[in-house]
Amino acid sequence: MFEGKRALVTGAAGGIGASIVTKLRAQGARVAVADRVTDGIEAEAHLPGDLLDGSYCDALPAAAQEALGGLDIIINNAGVITRGPVTETSDADWDLSMGVNVQAPFRICRAAIPLMAATGGGAIVNTASCWGGKAPGPNHALYCMTKAAIAHLTECMGMDHAHQGIRINAVCPNEVNTPMLRSGFAKRGFDPDKAVEELGKTVPLGRIAEPEDIADVMLFLASDAARYMCGALVEVNGGKPVA
Ligand SMILES: NC(=O)c1ccc[n+]([C@@H]2O[C@H](COP(=O)([O-])OP(=O)(O)OC[C@H]3O[C@@H](n4cnc5c(N)ncnc54)[C@H](O)[C@@H]3O)[C@@H](O)[C@H]2O)c1
Repeated sequence: MFEGKRALVTGAAGGIGASIVTKLRAQGARVAVADRVTDGIEAEAHLPGDLLDGSYCDALPAAAQEALGGLDIIINNAGVITRGPVTETSDADWDLSMGVNVQAPFRICRAAIPLMAATGGGAIVNTASCWGGKAPGPNHALYCMTKAAIAHLTECMGMDHAHQGIRINAVCPNEVNTPMLRSGFAKRGFDPDKAVEELGKTVPLGRIAEPEDIADVMLFLASDAARYMCGALVEVNGGKPVA
């Protein structure tokens, strides 16, 4: 489905990111991977760096374009989670969450849009969340706010850049079985396997999402099958909405 396409994936070393990269390559895409460390990831180009570094983000689309000989798809997948209400949120939490979840995809989109427009268009998929992207959830005030911001930015950019042949959409996953979720359980003293199993019972489909369940929807949004979708927020929740 992606024969001849060139894609940049951020957060490529993470749970969902690894699945996106594997699936894109299996379907013929050439992929540039971005994460703090990209060693050991099979890909056509490696662009490691810190998304908190603004100049790295600004330069990433052009670097991917140069490494791959073009750029058709960007998946802004990297993210961090901060837990707790506002009163337990530090300045450092703010800088980290706003930096990775909002500023990085903002900078990457801002740099990529003119490049894609000049070469006939492209597709960008951002990662919001059911938590914030669709409705606020309890005890994750900062995380929800960042995901609300990227959801709104996606809707705005989807409208503003459709005329340039650039489709910009976002997925809104509910809970996914990745290091992000599992490390949270471990930090709170729960056995991650048992906690994931228990959490699965709260989902109408009977289990929380695996990374592949989210990656498949991202690939759909990046593909020509979604050619009429611009600015959409696609909830992927197994039947379990936040609110
Ligand atoms: N896991 C869930 O339950 C869930 C639910 C909804 C949305 N999401 C979103 O899905 C996306 C992927 O999450 P995941 O569950 O695969 O998490 P993950 O922690 O497995 O992967 C996130 C990746 O982002 C990278 N990253 C974080 N900060 C970075 C930085 N400063 N510079 C470069 N790379 C950085 C990490 O190194 C990691 O590889 C995130 O945007 C997350 O918010 C996850």
